[in-house]
Amino acid sequence: MTAHRLHIARDAGLLPHGLCVLGTPDAETALALDGLEPRFVTASAQAAGRLPAPASPDHPESAPATLVLLPRSKALARGWIAAALRLSPEAVLVDGQKTDGIESIIRDLRAQAALSVGDAISKAHGKLVALSGPKDGLSAWALPPSPTEIAPGLVTVPGVFSADGIDPASALLAAHLPPLKGEGADLGAGWGYLATELMVQSTIQRLHLVEDDARALDCARLNLASRPAPERAIYHWADVTTWRAPRPLDFIVMNPPFHSGRAADPDLGRAFIDSAARLLGPSGRLYLVANRHLPYETRLTELFKNVTDMGGDARFKLISADAPKRSAPKGGARLARPARSR
Ligand SMILES: C[S@@+](CC[C@H](N)C(=O)[O-])C[C@H]1O[C@@H](n2cnc3c(N)ncnc32)[C@H](O)[C@@H]1O
Repeated sequence: MTAHRLHIARDAGLLPHGLCVLGTPDAETALALDGLEPRFVTASAQAAGRLPAPASPDHPESAPATLVLLPRSKALARGWIAAALRLSPEAVLVDGQKTDGIESIIRDLRAQAALSVGDAISKAHGKLVALSGPKDGLSAWALPPSPTEIAPGLVTVPGVFSADGIDPASALLAAHLPPLKGEGADLGAGWGYLATELMVQSTIQRLHLVEDDARALDCARLNLASRPAPERAIYHWADVTTWRAPRPLDFIVMNPPFHSGRAADPDLGRAFIDSAARLLGPSGRLYLVANRHLPYETRLTELFKNVTDMGGDARFKLISADAPKRSAPKGGARLARPARSR
């Protein structure tokens, strides 16, 4: 765990007051930095929500030191380390689990002649290393200056969900959606593929894109800009499980996430189903796609009067559900934290 290594780094005087933290810190990481008044830069609305201080997805101009919490995507990890060196050439710290590739990143860093890389702190199945070098010492690792077009009119950036192409499950759902009307949402909208497909339906008056990853949401904004009447789309940098809609929704589409880090976690998808039941109006309808093995049916029948198998293929199932049961909390009543728009 990062926190264990941070305690050692802190005792060694490697963490100055006011350091910048790039990545997705958990609560223990934030606690290990208590009193240092760190500046958190995170693309995750969930991470931002659990931090003790306000966090933003935007980088500062400079920082006394920058701690990079290694993401799983190697391209994104390299991009963040390059950005960290620009922010704090004297002191960059890179921390990560072995399962997220910290050892190969450290090997690659040691191979850079322009950098000075210290001994790694090894603990709790991960490593933390400190390095310094010229501001532009890792310019070859920098993220592309603009998003990459992966299909006609569709752009993504490294590290977002399905960055290399349209997700086959989302494509299947898009191909089977009936005509929709009124106000609805894509929960976990990613870089907006499903939403771009929905926007061709002129009967949709308003579409809320709710997404944890600010970088994906920025791509969605670009991807929807050329769709008909793009002002119908509203972007929410928010955690679906706590997001509140302005009014009960007529429809929800979703391809819910089912991984926490590397581990499969069907509770995430179930939490999305709970949110859908809470957010839909009495005659609203949910359309979802999921891997065949994911056990969502019990929760769906607990929360909706009608659950319909819409078919699918060998890998994915399509399900629609309507008439949320009255016992399901409506419109986010049990929620406290407001969503942020970005
Ligand atoms: C399987 S993808 C869905 C992709 C998408 N709708 C499409 O058009 O292909 C799930 C998305 O949910 C997002 N996500 C995961 N947990 C979330 C949460 N608690 N709140 C909001 N978004 C979340 C992920 O970042 C990811 O973009």
